Order: sequence, then structure tokens, then C-alpha cells
Amino acid sequence: MKVQVAIVGAGPSGLLLGALLHKAGVDAVILEAKTPEYVLGRIRAGVLEQVSVDLLDTVGVGERMHREGLVHGGFELCFGGARHRIDMKRLTGGKQVMVYGQTEVTRDLMDARLAAGLTTIYEAADVSLHDFDGPTPRVRYRKDGATHEIECDFIAGCDGFHGVSRASVPAGAIRNFERVYPFGWLGVLSDTPPLAHELIYSNHERGFALCSMRSMTRSRHYVQCSLDDKVEQWSDDAFWDELRRRLDPAAAESLVTGPSIEKSIAPLRSFVAEPMRFGRLFLAGDAAHIVPPTGAKGLNLAASDVSYLGSAITEYYQERSSAGIDGYSQRCLRRIWRAERFSWWFTNLMHKFPETGEFGQKMQAAELDYLVNSVAASTTMAENYVGLPL
Ligand code: APR
Ligand code: PHB
Repeated sequence: MKVQVAIVGAGPSGLLLGALLHKAGVDAVILEAKTPEYVLGRIRAGVLEQVSVDLLDTVGVGERMHREGLVHGGFELCFGGARHRIDMKRLTGGKQVMVYGQTEVTRDLMDARLAAGLTTIYEAADVSLHDFDGPTPRVRYRKDGATHEIECDFIAGCDGFHGVSRASVPAGAIRNFERVYPFGWLGVLSDTPPLAHELIYSNHERGFALCSMRSMTRSRHYVQCSLDDKVEQWSDDAFWDELRRRLDPAAAESLVTGPSIEKSIAPLRSFVAEPMRFGRLFLAGDAAHIVPPTGAKGLNLAASDVSYLGSAITEYYQERSSAGIDGYSQRCLRRIWRAERFSWWFTNLMHKFPETGEFGQKMQAAELDYLVNSVAASTTMAENYVGLPL
């Protein structure tokens, strides 16, 4: 098979890039190791910046998002037994975010791809990347007992943190920057009404908690937990009790509990690989970087990477210019490092860090007090939360 672009990975990055390239008339195929059901089974964050909403609209998949998504103009910070609202809309001159699950974004992109008759090869085993340092890269994979080869102009590595793309780059050509946090998030999805109209991020001496939502009847909650914890150790009751303890009395009182429909523990990590281009191979999304979920920047960064990559590749074919391709890595990394900084800062502000002790807690309390009482500080927070411009 011969195509212009081979995309590895059918998560949000690969699917959105596929949609952008299709819109620009560039021919691409997507190779995905798992089944569509497996891809849709992963529960992830659900806050879209305006930039991401606009991109989904551009490729024509925004209809259900605008119908079912919840537009939020603010969020709450809970500490010292009380909640304080950050009025993002007012502080940023009208910007808001869209609360719409990543699973739904993925489903909408998958449906649109299917409707347009575009090729996605699911259950592609042993994907391997070849010759991307020359003019004719190749991608090989196995399916139904046979080995297949795709010849292409470019490879887009959209295969997540554990994918083959970043691992295919020679060790001397890539640098990794990483911070692993000493705790995880235990998340519970439940068919219960959300606690409040907006998200609540709570800093508590027992640890961080987050009250989020997927709709007016489905909630997503998290509590900071130990990396040694096992999901099986956490009964639903134990989870709800712990969450309640980490909220202010009024919120704790109004929390509606119910059986979990999904429960999982995720570690927290900050990670960036530099550069993001190696000859004719480009990394995008989680293949190149990870943010801790505090602030929900993961999907939004994936969206901005593929927006830059889609434009760069389109420019190459339409204008015979490699300027976009040459500038891809630097352009992405500027936005990535700023989102990494915000996610790292918000994580440090809100979690219990055993090693920093009481002094660390006092510093967090002072910073939170400053944050909610200074227009300058709340504006900085709001501006980052709604997303920095592309
Ligand atoms: N061959 C083919 N596909 C692969 C391979 C491989 N060797 N390895 C991984 N994949 C697939 C995975 O099965 C997955 O479907 O690549 C896809 C990568 O998807 P994601 O991990 O969702 O990454 P990305 O599309 O970049 O999305 C970023 O996901 O983790 C969140 O917070 C993050 O919201 C952000 C988003
Ligand atoms: C979620 O709804 O899953 C979510 C929301 C906001 C975050 C992280 C996760 O910062």
C-alpha cells in the first residue's frame, strides 16, 4: 500500500490528525494496535479548551459536543473548609471551557471517519517504523497472519506514551525530561448528579480531591491515593467517605453517592521528549509528552500538536514548502512547556506531598489565599486554565 501519511495510533491525536488531513485532501491511513471497543473503553479527562472545541468544529464533528457538552465559565477551589470561585469568563474577557468526555470526542471522530469511508486498520500487530531518516519511510505490521507494508511520505507517531514511535528513535537523537509524582489519582465514574454546576478542586490535609462530571446525571470524582493502593482495596463506600472528608461541609452534605461504573488508579507524571521530529517521523500527543491531569491539559495539547502537524503537512503538499515541517517541533514545544509548567504548578499547589511536611502545607495555604484574593493571580490561573492561544 502507498499513502501520503501513515498515522500510528487511533486515539484522539491520530483520529483528529486523520480528520484534518482528510479535510485538506491529504491521503492518510491509521494503524491501531487495539480494537475500537478497547480504545473507547479508556476513561480520561473531559475539559476542552476553546482551541480544541474550534478544531473539532473545523473538522465537522462538533455537533453532539455542542448539544451534550456543558459550557463552564468558572471552577471552584476548595481549601480551609470553604470554596472560592475562579470566574474564568470574567477574568479572561469571555473565554470558557467545554466539559465533554474524551471518550465522546474519540467516538465522534471515529464515527465521522467511518462515515467518510476512511481507512483505519484496527488490531494491527507488531507495527514497526523504517527508513524515516530518508525520503521513503515504511511502516510494517501484521494482521490476520500476514505481514503488510505501507510506503509513505510521512509517519505521524500518535501512539501514546507506550507506543512504538518514540521508541523507534535512536537513543542519541532524543532527550527525555521527566518528573514522577509520589502519588496517584483514584477515579470513580458514577451515574449520580454532579455535586455542583462547576468543577471543584480541593486541597485538604488528607490529600487532593476533584469533583468533575460527564453530564447532569453522570459524575467523575477523584481522590489522591498512594501508589501502593490497589483498586480492589477501595470499596465504593470507602471512596465516597474519603471524598466527603476532603470537601467543605456544605459540599460534603450535598454529595449524592451511588455505585461506581468504573474505578481506576492512575499515576501522575510530567514528561516531555525533545525534539518531536526525526526526518520524516513526527511525534504528537501522549507519544511526546504527558502532563499530570490537574488542569486537564492532556487532550488539549494533543489537539494543538496535530493542528500544527496538519497545517505543516498540508503546506508541504499545497505550497511545496517545508517551513511548517521544519518548525513543527519548536512550535509545539513552546506551547507544551507552558502547559507542563501550569499542570506541574497546579499539581504542586493542590496535593499532599509527604516530603514537604507542615512547611509545605503552609506555603500551599498562603499561595491559595493569594490566588483567590488577588485579581492578578486569579487572572493568571484563569488564563492558563482556559488555554493559552495557539
Ligand atoms: N501500534 C499501533 N497503535 C498503537 C501502538 C502500536 N505499537 N501503541 C499504542 N497504540 C495506540 C493505542 O492503543 C492508543 O489507541 O495508540 C493510541 C494512542 O492513544 P492515546 O494514548 O489516547 O494518546 P493520544 O491520542 O495522544 O491522546 C492523548 O490521551 O492520555 C490522554 O491525557 C491524554 O487526553 C490526552 C490524550
Ligand atoms: C475529568 O473530568 O475527568 C477531569 C476534569 C478536570 C481535570 C481532570 C480530570 O483537571
